[in-house]
Formats: sequence, C-alpha cells, structure tokens
Amino acid sequence: METSSQEINTYQLEERRYPPPPEFAARANAQRDIYDRDFDEFWETEGRERVAWFEPFTKLYEWEPPYAKWYLGGKLNVAWNCLDKHVEAGRGDQVAYYWEGEPDGDRRALTYSDLLREVTKLANALKSLGVGKGTPVGIYMGMVPEAPVAMLACARLGAPHTVIFGGFSADSLAGRLHDMECEVLITQDEAWRRGTTVPLKRVADEAVGESPTVQNVVVLQRTGNDVPMTEGRDHWWHELATDESECPAEPMDSEDLLYLLYTSGTTAKPKGIVHTTGGYLVGAASTHYYIFDLKRDEDVYWCAADVGWVTGHSYIVYGPLCNGATSVMYEGTPDYPDKDRWWEIIERYGVTILYTAPTAIRSHMKWGPEHAQKHDLSTLRLLGSVGEPINPEAWIWYHEHIGGERCPIVDTWWQTETGMIMITPLPGITTTKPGSATKPFPGVDVAVFNEEGAEVGPGGGGYLVLRKPWPAMLRGLYKEDERYRETYWSKYPNVYLAGDGARIDEDGDFWLLGRVDDVMNVSGHRISTIEVESALVDHKEVAEAAVAARFDATTGQAIVAFVTLKGGAEGSVEKLEELRNHVAIKIGAIAKPANIVFTPELPKTRSGKIMRRLLRDVAENRPLGDTTTLADPTVVDELRSREAEEQSKED
Ligand code: WTA
Repeated sequence: METSSQEINTYQLEERRYPPPPEFAARANAQRDIYDRDFDEFWETEGRERVAWFEPFTKLYEWEPPYAKWYLGGKLNVAWNCLDKHVEAGRGDQVAYYWEGEPDGDRRALTYSDLLREVTKLANALKSLGVGKGTPVGIYMGMVPEAPVAMLACARLGAPHTVIFGGFSADSLAGRLHDMECEVLITQDEAWRRGTTVPLKRVADEAVGESPTVQNVVVLQRTGNDVPMTEGRDHWWHELATDESECPAEPMDSEDLLYLLYTSGTTAKPKGIVHTTGGYLVGAASTHYYIFDLKRDEDVYWCAADVGWVTGHSYIVYGPLCNGATSVMYEGTPDYPDKDRWWEIIERYGVTILYTAPTAIRSHMKWGPEHAQKHDLSTLRLLGSVGEPINPEAWIWYHEHIGGERCPIVDTWWQTETGMIMITPLPGITTTKPGSATKPFPGVDVAVFNEEGAEVGPGGGGYLVLRKPWPAMLRGLYKEDERYRETYWSKYPNVYLAGDGARIDEDGDFWLLGRVDDVMNVSGHRISTIEVESALVDHKEVAEAAVAARFDATTGQAIVAFVTLKGGAEGSVEKLEELRNHVAIKIGAIAKPANIVFTPELPKTRSGKIMRRLLRDVAENRPLGDTTTLADPTVVDELRSREAEEQSKED
C-alpha cells in the first residue's frame, strides 16, 4: 500500500505548475517568438551571433546520414572565441573564473586577460614539446583553473584533447590514451578531495607506462607534495610554461576535431565521442545563452559539474567562456569541511545561476535545509539540473530551499553525444512541471517513437529520437564507424536513437524515463553493466559476473553485482570488499558495486543468456550494504524459483 500512496504523492507533485516569474520573463534572453523561428534561420543567426569567424561559413549544414557537417567553409579558433575575442573588445578585466580550492582560504580570481596569458604560456610550452595542429593530447586533472587552461591551450594550437575524469583508474586512463594515441599528457601532482589528496600523478605514471605513444607529461604543482618525475619525459608546468610571447590561434576548419570524450556504451570498451569545432561551439554557446539567460555583465554563473564530463566541457569551459561569462569553479566536495560549503560559496561570490545534478540535490536534501539556511542565497535567480531524471520531490526541494520559490528551474536533457542541451525549459517562457524537461530547444527536432517507428503523440511513450541533425551533434565514434551506425542509427532509418525512454503528456511536454539499454546511471554518471562485469571477471577468483542496477534514493541507481566464484568457493565480507576494490582499480571508484551477491550459479535461459531482468528484480529487493545477502539461501532460492518460472515461459 505504501508504494501506491507514494505514487499518488508523486503524481500530485507532478501536477504542480510553475509559470515564469513576470520580472524574469520581461528581461529574458529568450522570448516567446524564439519558438517560431525557422530551423535554418535560427542556426544561421546563432552561428553569426555567438561565434566570431576568421572566415565566414558559406553553407549552414550538410546531412549525409548518419554524418552531418555544420558551418561549412568557416574558419575559427575556439580559444580565440573564448579569450582573445573578449580581451580585444576591452573586457579583459572581467573575471572569467572565481576559483575556490578545497582547503580553507585557497582562492583565485582569473580575469579574461589572466586566462589568455596562462593559455598562451601553456600553448607555447606545448609547442616546444612538438604539439601542433592535430597532435592528440590527454588531460587528467582535478578541478583547478589549469584544467580549462589546458583544454584551451590545446584548442589554440588545434591539438585535439581528451579529458579523462580524475576519478578514473590507471587502466581507464591508459585505455583512452592508447585509443586516441595521445602524445602528451597533462596532469597534476595531486588533487584535493574531501580533505585528502588524490594521487593523480601516481595513477598517470602507471597509465603512461602502458601508453607507448605518450612522450611527454606536463605536471602542474597543486598540493606541492613529492611525486616522482621521470627525467626527459616529465616536465613541471611552472618550469616549462614561462614564454608569454604571443602564440597565434590556429585557424581551424569548422569540421576539424576539437576533442574526443569517452563515454560508456553497452560493451566493455568505452566509445570515443567525436566533437568538432564550429557547430559544437555554436551549439554550446547558444544553448548556454538562452537556457541560462546569461547576462554577462551581471551574472555569476556556477556549473558544479566536473570538467571531466561533457557538462564540464560545454557548460564550464566552452559555452560560458565563448559568451564572456563570469563563472565560479570549485575544487572539492560539497560536504567539506562542512555540509554548507556550496551555500557559503554562493553567498561569497553572489552566484546568480546554479547548474547541478539531481544526485547532488538529493544529498543536500538528505543533509537537511538548515545548511542552506545559514547563508544568504538571495542572489540566485535561476537553477538548473542535468544528468538524470529529477524526481519531483527533489525538484520541489530545490525550488523551495535553494531557489527561495522565486527561481525558475531548467531541467536539461542531453548527452555526451549531443554536445549541447536538447530538451529544456526556457526560463522566461516555459511553465515548468516538477520532473519534466518540457520542450525541445529551438532548432532541435525531438520525437518519441514506438517499437515500429511510428511517432507517438501526446499521452504516449516510447523511445526518444532526434530527427534532424543539430550543430553540436557527435560526428561519429572515433575509429568505429560500424559501431556508430549500429548504436544510434540502426533501429530507425536516418533517425538518431538516444537510448532513453520518454513519454509526452497532453501539453506536449517530455518526461524522461531513464535508459532503455544496459547503461546504468549512478550519480549522473553513465556506466555500462558489461564494463563492470568485465572488471569483475578480470579478478582471478571470479568465474562469472552479472550486473544490474537498483533504485537508490541518493545516487538514482546503485550497482548490484551477482558473482559466481571459481571452484564453487563461497563469498565472504572480505571477498566482497576485494571485488569492489578490484572494480575501482579497473574502472574507477564511481563504478564500485554497492552490493555483491555471491551465488553458486547465474540464472540463464536454455540458450545461455543471463536473465538480466530477473537479476534487476532481485537487486531491487535487496537492501544495500546488507552483507547477510552473501550466499544467502533465500537469494539463491529466489533465483532458482524465478529461473524455473522464466524457463517455463521460454519452453
Ligand atoms: C541521462 C550528461 C533525464 C540520460 C549531460 C542521457 C537525463 C544520459 C537528463 C547522458 C535529464 C541526462 N533528464 N535524464 N535532464 N540529462 N540524462 O552522456 O539517460 O553523461 O542519455 O551526458 O544521462 O549522460 P551523459
């Protein structure tokens, strides 16, 4: 009965309506007529207004499914757009980043001129190491201003980068460096996180040992603790990056590679998502301008993501800097030294726009509103959410306790692949509903299809698809044309399959329902079940493993692994820890299973397929961290009886 009363509750919350506050609407960057604009006209105008070109584009786009090109003939440089453009316009003294380190009092403000100088110095340094147009560079850093500096220095030289999230393991890092054949790696001695240090250089050393293409490693000194440096290969950033003489921004073709970002797919091997220059920048900048309603001379904008994810790329670095925004960047965790750290930061810098993930909102919810109440949050005028469906309870908590019931909330749906926000409210126009991402962004064609490929109308549900190309769309998967076609374009002809389920309500608003493939979403991070399974079977004592996700009130989903040990060995609490750590070593701590259920056998169909849905159901009913489930006879019995049931259906 409890479930149904919760359902009613959620249903009532979903029914609430939040029209834009009239004062906000009157001044909003996006006004109602934006939805009437023609697709070509919209993107042509955006292409000219958001971005400065060394040579103008001559053709808006070319669509040869499944590959698109945008702003053909245009020449530009992303770093020039993010830095020089503003300095030349006399805005060099505006702060680009207010950076707050995790240790107490560790603060820096970098203006656009400062940032340009730092980028120039690093670009010259990279040049001295032989980096030029087309040289692949890896970046493995924490949340320090030098991470955007590194990205921009690469962009300035036309050297494509791949940023690897600082929580990834040596194996994950090596895999990416190897796949892109990176010649240089930029990293730092250590990072600060929750009062302790993360040994980035040590992990990088391990990874570089397995990445023969990497010739040089540039190391930022962050904590100052001793780290081993390899003579001839490793260079201290502060010793190498000293040349302030002008470093011209390389004129790049619209379709030149800007970066690869690896993300989980449904196999063990991550996909290298390809993003190019012109369309990506227009997409990131125009969505940032309208959705976050950026007033560059008034706003203090804070995207609390990590630069290692696409949200960091598009909405900490490229979009905001191209638009000349003043941003906040924070190094550490929200609960260090105390649970009010975020709210202290908002008060200190007078943050007006906050963009974060539902999982973070739910953590704050769990800690209680008293932490936010200690601080003056009255500067906030707009809130954003990204990464997973936001449950109405969290939406309303965010609205009331952080937004003081006056800030519109933009729930933004998008993906690493889309490069830019695709479904979102526009804060001065849209009447929002807790839990709904509402409408496609102007110039974006979203639909929901049923199994047969027919469009589903209001009231229906099915697969979320994108029917027209968009400027920031991925240009494929790095070196994997077949996989690209198969993953996104094979279910429906010439239509992009997002991999998310969605429904449309009677008003035509979209509600995202989560992934429809074997990709889990833990704290807004995409992790494939098969990746975790491969990490588990890599352990010498594991015979077989199957992974499923269960609901978790904070992280959205939590990973539950079902493991059979070799030789019929029984599981133990120690073994559980050992396997969890093994996954952390293979992938990174974000992929550690919350629970491992040891089982003598995995439930399979006669044809040998693991019954994943059954495992999901079993996972759903196990409390997390409940070690009594180890080889628990009731689990085994449950598996056996359910197996028998499924089997009889198959027969
Ligand atoms: C999910 C993150 C519901 C979705 C930008 C998508 C969301 C995947 C939302 C992409 C949202 C992201 N509502 N679900 N507002 N935003 N997702 O590549 O399943 O890390 O396919 O990009 O996150 O994750 P990715």
